[in-house]
This record gives sequence, structure tokens and C-alpha cells, in this order.
Amino acid sequence: MNAYYQKRPEIWAVGGGKGGTGKSFVTSNIATCLAAQGKRTVIIDADFGGANLHTLFGVSKSQKSLADFFAKKASLPELIVDTQIKNLYLIVGPIRYFEPESIKYAQKIKLFNHVKRLRADVIIMDLGSGTHFNIVDTFLLADKKIVVTLPQITALENMFSFLNNGFYRCLHRAFVDNKLGYVFKNAVEEKAGYEIGNLRQFIGLLRKKSDEAGEIIDDELARYMVNIIINQAKTTKDISLGNQVRSLCIKYLGFKANYLGYIEQDDTIPQTINRQQPYLQVYPKSRCATKIEKITTNLLDNKQMRVQ
Ligand SMILES: Nc1ncnc2c1ncn2[C@@H]1O[C@H](COP(=O)(O)OP(=O)(O)OP(=O)(O)O)[C@@H](O)[C@H]1O
Ligand SMILES: [Mg+2]
Repeated sequence: MNAYYQKRPEIWAVGGGKGGTGKSFVTSNIATCLAAQGKRTVIIDADFGGANLHTLFGVSKSQKSLADFFAKKASLPELIVDTQIKNLYLIVGPIRYFEPESIKYAQKIKLFNHVKRLRADVIIMDLGSGTHFNIVDTFLLADKKIVVTLPQITALENMFSFLNNGFYRCLHRAFVDNKLGYVFKNAVEEKAGYEIGNLRQFIGLLRKKSDEAGEIIDDELARYMVNIIINQAKTTKDISLGNQVRSLCIKYLGFKANYLGYIEQDDTIPQTINRQQPYLQVYPKSRCATKIEKITTNLLDNKQMRVQ
């Protein structure tokens, strides 16, 4: 598997704002599920500050990493390594000291242009934690955007910041691309004078600027679809949080979100980490494995969890 491919793979990205919500767990297990369905799947460990997916798969850390791609020492296909799972491959993230801020937007675009040409059906990028534009930008470039949150107020807060920054960034870029960057800038300046407390209100202000502004907003709203996973759910209240998150997205951020599904808290999950095998491979019949399979199907079919 060392050549670029003709067919464009789908690119999925997993983010979420807060650290430790289960992004790497979800990435590795959704990927395992896709590979089991015969889909050629490549995981890219894009956690530039704390890459550890190689450990989750028992892949040696002496491998070349994404840092070599950014340093122009290796092409992307050269970085692909096998995992112990058929159809599943990995591009190791920067392991040694690496300054995430050092990657410029143009380098991320370059990375995506190369990622799009990899020989795969699905590419899944694990983004790591944080709500900084540096991480959000990578999220925005993906075809399917997945956020993993815990049913805890701090994780939810960080997730909303992440989604807020994401859509704000999306709109800004779209206005600049349409040569209406000054309209966006004026709205930002104006908003201080109004009682604009959230993104939905800001979108309302921006929309009033012109018909063209409204069209740009509508295009971006149609494109910006985020998929939410509640991880480590313990109660029915935790499970129903996904629906509340959807309502809050519309109310405060002004866009719709999909509730993909939830995964229960399961104490055997941290134990599988030390076995360096994905949970789905160790416990394929468990409750959580069934949930991960359902989430993967929802992603493939562009569906969401049935609203309770
Ligand atoms: N559903 C779950 N039940 C129990 N433990 C879980 C569950 N999901 C993840 N964990 C555990 O939570 C810890 C954090 O998971 P993980 O490393 O995937 O988070 P992360 O979001 O990738 O973290 P980081 O932001 O540091 O990259 C791990 O020890 C993992 O085993
Ligand atoms: Mg992680």
C-alpha cells in the first residue's frame, strides 16, 4: 500500500475540545469497525501535541511520522504502516517534541491535498484536544466532522467552544473567499454596539448585511454538519444529553447538529489499552462494541440516533 490512488477517499475527523473525552478510543474503534466491513481504512494521528495511536495499535514508535511529511522528508504514502488488523493502516503522529502552532494553514491544506489522494475508502483523523483555530481548521477540512464529549459540564463547554470557533472560522473564510471579508469585519465591529451574545445572533446581524451575505451563510450552514457522540454515558439523562446538545446548537450557535449515538462507560475499555489492541477486537460482542458499530453505520448512512 504505497501508492496514491485514483478514487477520492472520504475524510472523517474526530475532535471535541476537551482532553480525555475518548477521541482516540472512538477513532481507533470506528476504524476497526470499518476495516472489518472490508473498507480500506487509514487512521491519521493528527494529535500534533500528544500522538499516541501507535501505542493503541502496538505499532513501534521508531516509525517515521507526520513530522517527516511537514519537514518534507517523506511523502504521505511512505508514512503508512500496517496494523495487526486487516484493511487498517496508520500514519503515526509527531512523537518527538513538536510545536503544533508551527504548522501553518497552507501546510494543512497541503496535507489535505495529499490525504485526498491516498489509497483508501475512509481516512480518519484523530485531532487531539483543544479549541484553538489550529485544530479547528483541520476539523473544518474533513468531509465528516465528529465530536466526542463526556456527559460533564466542562467537556460540554469545551465542545461548544470548539463548534462555535469552527463555524465562526467557516463563515469568516467563506466571506473572505467571496471577497466580502470587509462585510464580516464590519459586522464584528458592529456587534460590540449591539447585545450580541452568541453566534446565532451574530449570524443574524451578518445576514442582514446583504442578500449575498445571506446566501453565503446558507451555503455554509448546509455544509457545516457536525456529528455528536456522548461517550462514557452512565444514565438515561446522559444519553438524552445528545438531544439537548442538538437543541442548544440551534438556539445559541445557529446551526443543526446530528446526534450520532452514545457509548456507555465500561471499565474494561481502559484495560484494553495496555493490551495494545482495539477494544472492538478484544470484545466484539460487548454492549459498547454494538454502540460503536451503530455509530459507524450512522456515519456511513448519514443518519443519526433515533430521537427518544
Ligand atoms: N466508554 C468508555 N468507558 C470507560 N473508559 C473509557 C471510555 N472511553 C474512553 N475511555 C478511557 O478514557 C481515557 C481517555 O480516552 P482517550 O485517550 O481515547 O481520550 P482522548 O480524547 O483521545 O484524549 P486526549 O485528548 O488526551 O487525546 C482512556 O483511558 C480510555 O481508555
Ligand atoms: Mg487522544
